Amino acid sequence: MKIVHTIAELRTATGGPQRVAFVPTMGNLHEGHLALVRQARGLANGAPVVASIFVNRLQFGPNEDFDRYPRTLERDADLLAGAGCDLVFAPAETELYPEPQGYRVLPPPELADILEGHFRPGFFTGVCTVVMKLFQVVQPRVAVFGKKDYQQLMVLRNMVRQFALPIEIAGGETLRADDGLALSSRNGYLGARERAEAVRLNATLREVVAALKAGQRDLPTIEARAMQQLREHGWLPDYVAIRRRADLQAPQTLDEPLVVLAAARIGTTRLIDNVEV
Ligand code: PAJ
Repeated sequence: MKIVHTIAELRTATGGPQRVAFVPTMGNLHEGHLALVRQARGLANGAPVVASIFVNRLQFGPNEDFDRYPRTLERDADLLAGAGCDLVFAPAETELYPEPQGYRVLPPPELADILEGHFRPGFFTGVCTVVMKLFQVVQPRVAVFGKKDYQQLMVLRNMVRQFALPIEIAGGETLRADDGLALSSRNGYLGARERAEAVRLNATLREVVAALKAGQRDLPTIEARAMQQLREHGWLPDYVAIRRRADLQAPQTLDEPLVVLAAARIGTTRLIDNVEV
């Protein structure tokens, strides 16, 4: 496996536009990321698998964790090599943004200003801008993103469709710890007691799914009850929302495919999770 830090080196290493499979990340990798790399390996049809590691300042708000986001390149490279990655692109900030990034990709508000976008203004503009740029640099045929970031996956699928990018977007299932907590780089911020409590986020989502399956129909009440339960255990929930999978809007009927999404803070750590119904 090779590690490159500049766009020029990357283009030399791939030999220009290729049929590569691509996994963008911000590093501090865990098994969830590695599962995406293995999935990419399967989708690559023998072409190289490229992963990027770049902590993208544009998608962090002023009071978010950009500065303390863990940077663990050496360990990440070892893990990627073990998962069958061929090439790692790990640019410095000055390489990807040599001048202030004046052009941005502004996603549609009905998709990007709800849920995560409501609580993290500008987040999806930052994500779309960096992913568009990484797509230009890497020129993949297929790119893999996790369902853990459900809305991100939807926004990026939408971006690729609306710009007619010749890239297939594949979704990877969420990898979880044995107790159900979705693996996340931010889990490393949790102290022992917070880590023990963190399982409640997924447990609460599963209770919402169980309530729906048991025939409960009053969605606002189910959502409010779930948020109240989190608050009673010391969480500060941003949202627990039952939405249509198709467009993340509130469902008109319960017959359509649904997903339950949540974001909540435990201590200073903000966690997100979702479960398809
Ligand atoms: P990051 O949080 O590093 O995640 C990189 C990829 O790993 C994303 O597609 C994310 O959905 C996926 N992922 C994270 N946890 C996962 C889990 N437990 N199971 C399966 N997949 C998981 O998401 C980003 O980086 C950035 O926004 C990025 C797309 C790289 C743009 O900067």
